[in-house]
Amino acid sequence: MKGTLIYFSPCGSTRKVAELIKSEFVKYNWEIQMLDMTKDNDLFPNGDIEKFINKIEGHDLLLVGGPIYIDHLHYNVLKVLKALQLADGEKYSKDAAVFTTFGKITPGVGSLEAAIELKATGRNTWAAIEVDSEHCVARNIPYHISEGLPGREVETLVSQLVEYLIKIVDLKDKPLKGIAEKLKSRFDDFPKLMDERKVTKSSFPNIEFNYDLCKQCLLCVKKCPVNYLIVKDGYPVTSLIDSCVHCTNCLFYCPTGAVKMDLFDKEPFYRKQLKEQNLQPDGTSISSLILAD
Ligand SMILES: Cc1cc2nc3c(=O)[nH]c(=O)nc-3n(C[C@H](O)[C@H](O)[C@H](O)COP(=O)(O)O)c2cc1C
Ligand code: SF4
Ligand code: SF4
Repeated sequence: MKGTLIYFSPCGSTRKVAELIKSEFVKYNWEIQMLDMTKDNDLFPNGDIEKFINKIEGHDLLLVGGPIYIDHLHYNVLKVLKALQLADGEKYSKDAAVFTTFGKITPGVGSLEAAIELKATGRNTWAAIEVDSEHCVARNIPYHISEGLPGREVETLVSQLVEYLIKIVDLKDKPLKGIAEKLKSRFDDFPKLMDERKVTKSSFPNIEFNYDLCKQCLLCVKKCPVNYLIVKDGYPVTSLIDSCVHCTNCLFYCPTGAVKMDLFDKEPFYRKQLKEQNLQPDGTSISSLILAD
């Protein structure tokens, strides 16, 4: 049997989960195609989604994964999901599953959105896993959230997910309802979410370089998940295509503090969010597994 795993992972947590899922499937002698959107030259900066979709090989199960940005599945993943209608035909199974990672604040409506998009391409989403992970923005301020996650704590959930999916693929009579039905009420819990899609761009400042501090190591360029940073005369510059996803990798990895991004107001915001939900920044993982009824 064969599975295809498509994922986007600007800061690496979603990739960790993808690797865990793959290793679990391999135990059952499944072959797994890993299709990482991150830094993909067709997708970024060119946006040639069709070329990316053409890389999808025939499979018995499709798994799609990405991070939660402002309560939504990352828009780059949603774009690929919409384009999945291009991967149509007998060699592509209609069975699907979703995995998301989030920085403890909320998994939002990411799994639901993915299931809806998959449904629109004729696919049924039978399970989702929502994994509590290090908050990539909070890495840069003195208020780390879910530092060190995902770790071994998620292994049990992943093995339950894979065991369930392997059974589902073999079933002639599938469950009546996929997870889209089950999660439908999440839109009621987050009434304003759909209006907040634009928040990322307005609340996350653009990056700037202080070239006096730059030692031209180009780590920032290497770590930029969407190839937004390019090299000019040996220095990093932002490319003309405005595709920065505000993942903060360039800020985090720069060894000299030459990347500037104004995150001063984020700490009170995160404290408030977690306090309202009675959550500690670290401590117990709130990852969860959602299975179809
Ligand atoms: C712009 C932005 C918005 C985010 N919004 C949320 C959010 O709404 N809820 C949450 O719990 N985590 C949020 N996060 C944290 C990420 O979901 C989390 O770090 C995720 O694991 C990143 O995945 P990756 O490491 O695969 O890139 C956000 C991160 C960024 C950069
Ligand atoms: S990571 Fe920092 S020091 Fe290295 S090239 Fe980028 S801005 Fe310059
Ligand atoms: S420029 Fe920096 S913040 Fe923007 S996508 Fe690239 S690494 Fe992330």
